[in-house]
Amino acid sequence: MTFDDEAATAHPGVRMLLLGRQGAGKGTQATRLAQLCGVPHISTGDMLRAAVRDGTPLGLRAKQIMDAGDLVPDEVMVGIVDDRLHLPDADRGWILDGFPRTVGQAVALADITARRPLDVVVDLVVDNAVVIERISTRRTCDGCGTVYRADDAAIADGTCAKCGGTPRQRDDDQPEAISRRLVLYERETAPLVDHYRDVGLLETVDGLGTEDEVFARLLAVVDARTTTPS
Ligand code: AP5
Ligand code: MG
Repeated sequence: MTFDDEAATAHPGVRMLLLGRQGAGKGTQATRLAQLCGVPHISTGDMLRAAVRDGTPLGLRAKQIMDAGDLVPDEVMVGIVDDRLHLPDADRGWILDGFPRTVGQAVALADITARRPLDVVVDLVVDNAVVIERISTRRTCDGCGTVYRADDAAIADGTCAKCGGTPRQRDDDQPEAISRRLVLYERETAPLVDHYRDVGLLETVDGLGTEDEVFARLLAVVDARTTTPS
């Protein structure tokens, strides 16, 4: 049995959303969880940044919006996610990071996933002061998108340990855009926490501590929500 088979047996086909403020660690944790569970990590932010890098019509439209810390319109985002969730690798499950982030997107997602609904929604909780420090010191590889902290030894020579690209500050990780993104989070995305609590899908996970500590908390939640009691 390969590692992936074992992981898939331990955490079968999870369908999970990660909510949480900008810089809470959604991308960091979703990458690890997706690898362990053998499902794709679907980050709308990563998809948009790839479109910007590739200079596609979507990327050209999204760049200005993202750099200002604003939200790309719902109809654009819903189309992208609908297409992505219908690709074959999403059959076994997925971890969504950064979508939905408005009530309209949550309503659309419920339609898209009507046949195979969500297992769990996690609110990864980290307060404003900590996320601002994390975002300000984040570096993202311009080649493969890997996320690092600025003081990570793996990028001490100025190159990405995975692909040799250059770790840089994201264009929206500047003070003005960070403030705008946090305001929009409270206004547009935080109401989703109550919504998913009301429908019984919400789990709250403390996002403070080391990456390993947070990962262990998330795994416990995935285990509890995907293991059928015997
Ligand atoms: P997106 O890319 O989704 O950004 P975000 O929501 O602002 O979230 P971040 O990526 O900033 O934070 P994260 O929680 O992933 O943190 P990370 O793991 O990197 O969206 C970007 C833009 O795209 C939006 O503003 C919008 O314009 C557009 N967009 C995307 N989706 C959209 C949608 N659905 N609708 C409309 N518009 C959309 O961690 C942060 C840092 O902390 C890293 O350096 C990491 O190394 C470090 N770190 C992580 N965990 C820990 C820990 N435990 N201890 C210490 N440091 C840690
Ligand atoms: Mg992210």
